[in-house]
Parts: sequence; structure tokens; C-alpha cells
Amino acid sequence: MIIAVDGPTASGKGTIAKALAAHFGLPHLDTGLLYRAVGRQVQLDGGDPDSPADALAACAFGDALLEDEILRSEEVGGFASRVSVHPEVRAALYQRQRAFALQPGGAVLDGRDIGTVIAPEAEVKLYVTASVQERARRRWLEMTGRDIDIPLAEIERDIVARDARDINRADAPLRAAPDALVLDTTHFGREAAIEAAIEAVRERLG
Ligand code: DC
Repeated sequence: MIIAVDGPTASGKGTIAKALAAHFGLPHLDTGLLYRAVGRQVQLDGGDPDSPADALAACAFGDALLEDEILRSEEVGGFASRVSVHPEVRAALYQRQRAFALQPGGAVLDGRDIGTVIAPEAEVKLYVTASVQERARRRWLEMTGRDIDIPLAEIERDIVARDARDINRADAPLRAAPDALVLDTTHFGREAAIEAAIEAVRERLG
């Protein structure tokens, strides 16, 4: 069984995907981390994330980079969003994600284009979303918890910019697959959101 979990940044899709993987005993891939690694590698190379050639060269990042905590920073998230616009980058990362989705027994993948491009045949597709204000608040709480001092308004601005870039890019833009179940977590706590997602998968599987 393939479960595709898509949605904008800080919507709770990562938490939900991880919980679904644990609940249904499936391996999980956070595909955003691959784009973040490319963004970080461009930064390390002193390249330009808006240059397709620089971004493509950075797709050869070493796997150890995927473990680096710095990938979770807002700055690297912004770089990831910029490199993800290039079709060359998306093509370079496609096979790795596709192979993960097709492994025997199935998998859970979360990202922006799992249900639309990476695994359109997924048995279950969830599109997890929440209001911009709520997503900014969650990201701010997460940052504060990690002792990172950043104004809420700045996070909100970043999220709006990132959404616009992810939604408006020509190649594999962020959007719910027509057969995806939309889960709005604005008024849900963590546990309620997970429960709703598990219930949605159960329903889909009949
Ligand atoms: O989910 P995230 O915030 O870690 O993703 C970082 C960026 O990577 C996001 O702004 C767009 C890009 N991305 C993508 O284009 N396609 C995916 N499947 C996952 C992430």
C-alpha cells in the first residue's frame, strides 16, 4: 500500500506521515528533506539556488547531509523551495522517490507532488493543510523550542512566499490530487490530526 501525504509547509503533513507509517508498519520518506539537502549543498558550494546548473550540480549531495540538523532551518527551507522550481532538479530526484514508493509492501511518502507525480497510483492520498496563521504559529513554537529567536511576523512572511513559489511553479506545483482527501488541521491538535488521518486511511481501504 502506498500512502501519499502532500501539503504546504508546516501543515502537519510530516507528523501525520510519520504516525501513519508507524501505525501501518510502513517505511517513511520525507521528500522535502531531499530538496532541503539540494538547497543546503548549493549554499555549501557557494552556488545560486536560482541557477538550474548550480542546483542540478548540488543534486549529487552525499547522503550524510540528510542527517544534518541544519536542513530543518528556515533558511535552508527557503533554498529548498527555490531549487525545487527547476525541472532538472525534480527529474534528478524522481527515481529515488519512485523506487522508495514502489518497494515491496508499500511506503508512506510526504511532500508536495507525491499523489500527483511521484506515485499517482497511491491507494491513499491525503492533502494536509491549515491556515497560514496557524502554520506560522506552529513553526514559531517549534523554533522557540529550539532556542531560535525569530519574530512570528517574519515566519508568516516566509510561509506566504514559500506557498506562492510552491503553488505557482510550472513543474509539479503544489496542489491536491483530484482523488485526495483534504484534511484541514487548523483546529486540530497533534493527536486529533493523527487520529483523523488514520481514520481516513481506514475508510479509504474499506
Ligand atoms: O516539506 P519541506 O518544507 O521540507 O519542503 C521544502 C521545500 O522543498 C518546499 O518548499 C518545496 C520543496 N519540495 C518539493 O518541491 N516537492 C516535494 N515533494 C517536497 C518538497
